[in-house]
Amino acid sequence: MSDPKPTYLSDYRPPAYRVTHTELTFDLDAKATRVKARLHMERHPQAKNGAALELDGERLTLISIAIDGQPLGEDEYSVDAERLIIESVPQTFLLDTEVEISPASNTALSGLYQSSGMFCTQCEAEGFRRITFYPDRPDVMATFSTTVIGSATTEPVLLANGNPVERGSLPEGRHFVTWDDPHPKPSYLFALVAGDLEKVEDRFTTASGREVTLQIWVEEENLGKTDHAMASLKRAMRWDEHAYGREYDLDLFMIVAVNDFNMGAMENKGLNIFNSAAVLTHPHTATDVAFQRVESIVAHEYFHNWSGNRVTCRDWFQLSLKEGFTVFRDQCFSADTNSAPVKRIEDVSFFRTAQFAEDAGPTAHPIRPDHYIEIGNFYTLTIYEKGAEVVRMLSNLVGPEAFRRGSDLYFERFDGQAVTIEDFVACMQEASGIDLSQFMLWYSQAGTPEIDAHGEYDYANGDYRLILRQRTPATPGQYDKQALHIPVRLGLVGTKSGRDLPLTLDGESLGSDTVIHLREEEQEFVFTDVSEAPVPSLLRGFSAPVKLRFPYGREDLAFLLANDSDGFNRWDAGQRLAMLALDDLIAAHRNGVEKVMDTRVVEAFRHLLNAEIDDRAVLAEMLTLPSEAYIAEQQPLVDVDAIHAARNFVKQRLATALRDDFLRLYKANDSDAPYAPDPDQIAARGLKNVALSYLMAIEDEDAIELARKQFAADHNMTDVRHALTLLTHSSRDDIAEPALKAFGEKWAHDPLVMDQWFAIQVTRPQPDVLDRVAFLMKHPAFSLKNPNKVRALIGTFAGQNRVNFHRLDGAGYRLLADVVIELNRLNPEIAARLITPLTRWARFDETRQDLMKAELERIRAEELSPNVFEVVEKALA
Ligand code: TRP
Ligand code: ZN
Repeated sequence: MSDPKPTYLSDYRPPAYRVTHTELTFDLDAKATRVKARLHMERHPQAKNGAALELDGERLTLISIAIDGQPLGEDEYSVDAERLIIESVPQTFLLDTEVEISPASNTALSGLYQSSGMFCTQCEAEGFRRITFYPDRPDVMATFSTTVIGSATTEPVLLANGNPVERGSLPEGRHFVTWDDPHPKPSYLFALVAGDLEKVEDRFTTASGREVTLQIWVEEENLGKTDHAMASLKRAMRWDEHAYGREYDLDLFMIVAVNDFNMGAMENKGLNIFNSAAVLTHPHTATDVAFQRVESIVAHEYFHNWSGNRVTCRDWFQLSLKEGFTVFRDQCFSADTNSAPVKRIEDVSFFRTAQFAEDAGPTAHPIRPDHYIEIGNFYTLTIYEKGAEVVRMLSNLVGPEAFRRGSDLYFERFDGQAVTIEDFVACMQEASGIDLSQFMLWYSQAGTPEIDAHGEYDYANGDYRLILRQRTPATPGQYDKQALHIPVRLGLVGTKSGRDLPLTLDGESLGSDTVIHLREEEQEFVFTDVSEAPVPSLLRGFSAPVKLRFPYGREDLAFLLANDSDGFNRWDAGQRLAMLALDDLIAAHRNGVEKVMDTRVVEAFRHLLNAEIDDRAVLAEMLTLPSEAYIAEQQPLVDVDAIHAARNFVKQRLATALRDDFLRLYKANDSDAPYAPDPDQIAARGLKNVALSYLMAIEDEDAIELARKQFAADHNMTDVRHALTLLTHSSRDDIAEPALKAFGEKWAHDPLVMDQWFAIQVTRPQPDVLDRVAFLMKHPAFSLKNPNKVRALIGTFAGQNRVNFHRLDGAGYRLLADVVIELNRLNPEIAARLITPLTRWARFDETRQDLMKAELERIRAEELSPNVFEVVEKALA
């Protein structure tokens, strides 16, 4: 086998033929589904006369082929493993094909496959070519008419995109439904679901008064778990009308929950397909985090109806056009629905941990890559989350009114078209009159820009001079970086008053909170008439996806933590303060010196615990230490053991010094009110559980008793899971084991709860955890074929149990590589994602580097899918 070849953006050519209408008939069968396709095709006006017709197709058995009703002779076409070529076709014609496929043996979960006995599809990005021969590219948009034929007993429900227009029964216990989708769409938005499903139904009246039927389809036992998704859907539909003036455009909107799914969910037109973990909730089975995740994913997929479906991507290099924009839209929706500062804190702390790490590793790529081997590898944090940060910067740069005018223009001008990132930015430029040419570099330049800032206050004349220097480190294939246009939101907080001081720059007064524009490599900003010495509060709200360094002293940070008017930066000051203390402790641990706790951190926490804070959810975030992964991201060389020890030390010292405050906090936020996933209750549970974590860090009898009681009270999954996690991670096996056993037995029937049970156990810090992972892989509730199980057990272990994954004997790495090798055959998309922790080898000491590289080499020696090949090649380059 020869190595797979990359596809280049610069090679883009418009399609020679387009499909105006697609008629499909599926005769479903687990091992031998027949797919008939009738494609109404025409040559593109600009394509040259006589251009050959090339259709994509993989793993298809061709049964018949005809043009305008005339079967083709064997010399009139050719088929290989990837495509079908017909050398000569008329200008306009009907192409009829019939193929056979095997959903039951499709373990890659791309194309038509089976999940818990039902048939379902996943076509993004290039799965439709596993269903029929087709120009499987997003710039070919057609209307679809789909007939699904199945067994009336095993597939009583037959769904596809659009509106049902005909149904009836057929001989031999079969029946059919025909669906019409009047909106032209690319093949990646095609969907079909067939099985024994039940529905929950609701209605929505659009702003213009149209009635829409909303349905959520699930397996019968999950009927009680759809309320939150339905309520979230209605909120999202309303929000898109208000925030973007976008209405839904069909009479029917369906969501289906499936158990086996590679990602969170998929925005197929009129028929969103969801990973059951991203749609099902119940107070007893789902945590607050899961409730919020469901809300944001339901909204995300719904928002794609405009940002993705009505206006789609010209080619897959433009993926962030729909994903970055849609993530930005779902983030704003969640911020409006819940606590906006907490939403921002959560998003940024995840971003700075995971996307920064991606940007610093061997798979770093721009938001718009210029080549790929396997597009399935580019559904990344960079495309999604950094893409969203860039749209957020745009919206801040042009301001809310111009942003809305720009998005209106974008949706109107390009409705029904497949477009590029330039098209989107051009609308924003046109609507605002602001020159965005330098800004476009954000799309082509990979890596995280670093800003080094310093400032000086001149007591004599009241000037504050702020100097900013930017630099973006080299990334694979990109060595010289240009200066970016970086919006830096800031305030100057007076050290005497504790207030934001009025800002005057170049004689212009700018209020007390403003955005300065860094465009040069180095730039100086002189604020005049600054009445007292300030501490600068920089990059408020994380106004750009950069690393900003400023030589803050610990007093400065404690001051900002107490006084900054920007909630986000108050939190960030606390994180920076904790990081300084952690750095010292990490060094002490490495040097074998006694660890000494920084009392300023203790005092800052004491202050927080006793201050009047109106946003309790923000307080819970402020009381949370940076994660081990985030701390690691800050270190020049990652020492997992020192990080783990340092963080535990801080937790224990804080808990010892502030035990009574934490106990008080716990009691004040404990409640037996019926569960609701509302912001107030979520904040209270967050605070209570943060307090319990600290108390359990000292593991005294009172703390253990609290955790046991909380577990036994069985009030809601948020509290139960948190208590079980603390008990399981404690040193007291006599308490951990019975709780784990009880939980496992109680929930053996519920796969989504069992996933949590797996995740809780494999994050145990105890050194025997590796045996546990191996043991749990043989548990009847585990299956390598189910992506949720793989993520819960293997992904969680390798990504979150840092001390044990990075064991010095290499056993953690070996286990991961073994799973990757097996999954490479079963499900290449999941296999490729799972390798991520091994690709970060350069961040560790030499011993670990060698062990990790050896496992990557072992993977490379296998016969690899393009997905795994691409990741491993980059990791070893
Ligand atoms: N477009 C989907 C989303 O935004 C992503 C997605 C779902 C996907 N399933 C996939 C991407 C499978 C690649 C492969 O949520
Ligand atoms: Zn998306």
